[in-house]
Amino acid sequence: MDFTSQVVMVTGANGGIGSAIVNELLKTKASKIYACARNTDSLKGMFSDSRVQPVELDITKQENVKSAAAKCSDVTVLINNAGVAMGGLLGSQEKARIEIEVNYFGTHSMCTFFAPVLKNNGGGCIVNIASLLSFVNMPSIGTYSATKAAVHSLTQGLRGILTAQGTKIIGVYPGPVETRATKGLQMPMAKPDDVAAEIVIGIIEEREEIFPDKMSKEVMQGLAVDPKAVERQLGSC
Ligand SMILES: NC(=O)c1ccc[n+]([C@@H]2O[C@H](COP(=O)([O-])OP(=O)(O)OC[C@H]3O[C@@H](n4cnc5c(N)ncnc54)[C@H](OP(=O)(O)O)[C@@H]3O)[C@@H](O)[C@H]2O)c1
Repeated sequence: MDFTSQVVMVTGANGGIGSAIVNELLKTKASKIYACARNTDSLKGMFSDSRVQPVELDITKQENVKSAAAKCSDVTVLINNAGVAMGGLLGSQEKARIEIEVNYFGTHSMCTFFAPVLKNNGGGCIVNIASLLSFVNMPSIGTYSATKAAVHSLTQGLRGILTAQGTKIIGVYPGPVETRATKGLQMPMAKPDDVAAEIVIGIIEEREEIFPDKMSKEVMQGLAVDPKAVERQLGSC
């Protein structure tokens, strides 16, 4: 897919992987980039290019998503990047409910309200930022892993129903990336800029599944050879 003249929307664009994707898109000939954030003040001074337009958007609020779809009716590429990871597996469901609301239901709302927009604009593309943990659970962020498995399943289903309207569906499955979300985590991590560059290349090449860093590629190879060994290995993390 050529980004020339595309109108791209990126959710959670005020930092981490999201802002790195916007910066990477600015190297292409995309005509407009809607940079979404729950609070657009957080975008101030972040992007100096006039192609970037801030949009206030909380993806857990359906009315908010619906009005964004009405207002930004020229979107041709939707990048669902917004997400949260709160930690833990068993115990109180309070954090787990927030994770599922944002990561799964929020992404689901975005796809629901933007699928007709993309159809009207000729098909376009939906890119869901899932996780390597869509494929194997890491108990220290076990409820998060479960939400990302759900996002992967949603992505597969969308491919099934939206291909007919010409919408390309891409899933992205990063390993650990150095962002706010992983602050304090003691393990090798990819840089957001490198991950964003791989994501944009993957979209251009129309890869259905993008593994944008070394660890995601290695773990996927491990899963293909011995999935139970990988499950046991991550089970202690
Ligand atoms: N970092 C990793 O190791 C890693 C690995 C695999 C996948 N991912 C995924 O990559 C994506 C980006 O994460 P990141 O690492 O860049 O983390 P991050 O820096 O914490 O960014 C998360 C973004 O999501 C936004 N967000 C949270 N709740 C939202 C809501 N209800 N509505 C709209 N936006 C919301 C945040 O906005 P606020 O500033 O308003 O909170 C922030 O912009 C997430 O989907 C994450 O699960 C990350």
